[in-house]
Amino acid sequence: MKKILCVIGTRPEAIKMAPVILELQKKSWAKVSVLATAQHRQMLDQVLGFFNITPDYDLNVMKPNQSLTELTARLLIGAGEVLDQEKPDVVLVQGDTTTVMSVALAAFYRQIPIGHVEAGLRTGDIFNPFPEEANRIIAGHLATWHFAPTTSSRDNLLKESISPNKIEVTGNTVIDTLLATAEKKITLPIPLPKHERLVLITSHRRENFGEPIQRICRAIRKLAEDNPSICFLYPVHPNPNVKLVAEQQLADLSNVVLCAPLDYAPFVAAMKMSHLIISDSGGVQEEAPALGKPVLVLRQETERPEAVTEGVVKLVGTDYNRIVTEAQILIDNAQAYAEMARGVSPYGDGSASTRIANRLEKDLAI
Ligand code: UD1
Ligand code: UDP
Repeated sequence: MKKILCVIGTRPEAIKMAPVILELQKKSWAKVSVLATAQHRQMLDQVLGFFNITPDYDLNVMKPNQSLTELTARLLIGAGEVLDQEKPDVVLVQGDTTTVMSVALAAFYRQIPIGHVEAGLRTGDIFNPFPEEANRIIAGHLATWHFAPTTSSRDNLLKESISPNKIEVTGNTVIDTLLATAEKKITLPIPLPKHERLVLITSHRRENFGEPIQRICRAIRKLAEDNPSICFLYPVHPNPNVKLVAEQQLADLSNVVLCAPLDYAPFVAAMKMSHLIISDSGGVQEEAPALGKPVLVLRQETERPEAVTEGVVKLVGTDYNRIVTEAQILIDNAQAYAEMARGVSPYGDGSASTRIANRLEKDLAI
């Protein structure tokens, strides 16, 4: 029996680790434990409830408007204590949050092998996204297994001299979760004003705090004023750097609906209902193409180039005029819209978790 400790800290980690946990729980050779750092509290609990996952350990580290330094310090100490108690054979981390970097470091200090789920994503710019590019490089270089979602993420790892036999191209586990959820019939829990089309918005990136998020919200305001028959649905991230700006800039518009973060299934329903998505989210860049929804990405660069190359996701940055112009084209021009709404899934086929579990089974010689 091998003890596998699966670590989750934030909403996207839980969404993407849940299918891995559920897959490993089916294996007779695996004793699965879950460590929730609760880097996110409310948003993590939303996802844990949806997947019926009860953590074995909960560090409850989140503090309002937390700084990276204090968050990292709390995580290193807290995770270290859990590792000393649990003594897992393998620690699985997912993605590039501060939870991932800190828990990987705590595991490395104890020489516990690490499996990195969603390995090899890179922009090549250490400050974009910040601090995630550094987090995933650090976690990646400490890992024994690299579960790369695509061949280009595998190639990024090879360029960093990671041994090819430590890399498994699996697809992204987010597609496992998405496909299992998208087939359910879910209605939105909030009333929307009468509308002809829906535009869905999310934003939360640290590098967009300050002026960029102000420009993003001013651009949404302009689009809402110019397109009164369209409803702009914006589930607002609880980070005060985002929430206060969104409320200040957009709360008075009748065709803009600001709401709390949606539970996962209603959010998938909102993606399915939408004409277009405007977002700086990593996960949404992976999910929306699989649902045939164009995404305008509020970032200068992306570690997920596959959908951009396919032409179904476009980087528009945070320039006011560019956001307004590109969104208006997708609202007005049916041909431009059709070219981006083709429904391709470069990030997976729904079997990533099975591939991860199978690779661990093979290498742990069970
Ligand atoms: C974090 C990750 C980011 C990931 C994102 C997913 C880091 C540095 N950032 O960003 O990579 O893309 O999660 O959403 O790891 N808050 C709440 N309730 C919640 C969650 C957050 O109130 O459930 C507020 C708190 O004031 C908290 C703040 O948001 O201090 C920031 O949370 P944090 O996890 O540090 O950063 P995110 O911007 O959420
Ligand atoms: N999501 C959700 N409710 C929302 C907004 C997003 O469940 O109100 C989901 C979305 O489907 C995706 C994930 O959260 O799977 C993305 O999380 P986020 O954008 O916070 O982080 P990132 O992916 O950028 O790290």
